Amino acid sequence: MKSVFRDDILEGKVAFVTGGGSGICKGIAEAFLAHGAKGVTILGRKADRLSAAADEMKQKSGRDVLAAPCDVRKPEQIEAALEATLERFGRIDIVVNGAAGNFLAPAAALSYNGFKTVMEIDTIGTFNVCRASFEKYLRDHGGHILNVSATLHYAATPLQIHASAAKAGVDSITRTLALEWGPLGIQVNGIAPGPIDGTEGMSRLAPGEMRDAQIKGIPLRRLGTIEDVASCALYLTSGAASYVNGETIVVDGGAWLPGMGKFMTMLGVD
Ligand code: HXC
Repeated sequence: MKSVFRDDILEGKVAFVTGGGSGICKGIAEAFLAHGAKGVTILGRKADRLSAAADEMKQKSGRDVLAAPCDVRKPEQIEAALEATLERFGRIDIVVNGAAGNFLAPAAALSYNGFKTVMEIDTIGTFNVCRASFEKYLRDHGGHILNVSATLHYAATPLQIHASAAKAGVDSITRTLALEWGPLGIQVNGIAPGPIDGTEGMSRLAPGEMRDAQIKGIPLRRLGTIEDVASCALYLTSGAASYVNGETIVVDGGAWLPGMGKFMTMLGVD
C-alpha cells in the first residue's frame, strides 16, 4: 500500500526498535526507513531471525540496519546495544518498545513464572529500555519514545491476565515519563494495536476459526494491517504530533469498544 506520508519526513533520523526483527515492530522499522530514516537498530532475542530481517530491510530500503541481539530484561545488553547504535549512527531520535511475550492461559493454570516472565519482558523491559536510552542519549538531546501497548486491560480480557497487567503497566510508564521527561524535549507516547493480521500474536491468540469470529466483532469488519500500525508510528514521530505527549493511540478498528457484540446481536445485525 502506498504511504500517505512524504518519503522524507524522518530524514536523517535514527531509530532503536525492540522487537524489530518481526511482526508489527519490523513493519514500524521498515516504515521509518522508507520515510527517510538514515538507520535503524533492531533488537530481539533470536540472533538468526534478527540478522535475516536486517539483511532484508537493508536490501529493500538501501539504508543501514544494525541487528543487535538483546534481551530487554538485561539492562547491560540494552546499554551495549545503545552504545553500538551511537557508534554506528551517531544519534538516536526514536526509541520503540515493542518486545513482548504473550500466550493464552487461564489465570488458575498460569504458573508463577509464566506471569512473571511476561511482566518482565513487557513492563520491566520497557522501563529498562526507556531508562537506558534516557541515560545514554535522550536526556541530552530529546527525542521520541513509542511504547507498544494493547487494549486488553481497558475492560477485561480472559486468558491474558499476564499481558493485560503488563500492558496496563506500560501505559502507566508512558504517562509518567511524558510528565517527567517532557521538559527535556522527550515525547513519550504509545500505540495500542488491536488484532493485526500476519503477526505472531494473532496466530497465537486467535488461531483458525477464531480469526473469522473476531472479524465480526470489529466495527470496521477487517483485521488491522502492520501498515495501519506503522502509519500511526509515523504520525507520532514525524512532527505532525509535536504536541501529543503521554497519549496511547488505539489502532484497532474500534474492536475494543465495549458492548459492541451484545448490542449488535440484540439488533440482529451480523
Ligand atoms: C502457559 C507458558 C506458555 C504457554 C510460556 N509459558 N509459554 N505458560 N502457556 N503457552 C510459561 C513457561 O511454562 C514458563 O513458566 C514461563 O512462561 C517462561 O517461559 P520460557 O519459555 O522459559 O520463557 P522465555 O523463553 O523467556 O519465553 C516466554 C515467552 C514466549 C516470551 C512468553 O513463550 C512467547 O510468548 N513468545 C511469543 C512472543 C510473541 O508472540 N510476541 C508477540 C506478543 S503479542 P514455568 O513455570 O514453566 O517455568 C502481544 C499483543 C497482545 O503482546 C495484545 C494482542 C491483541
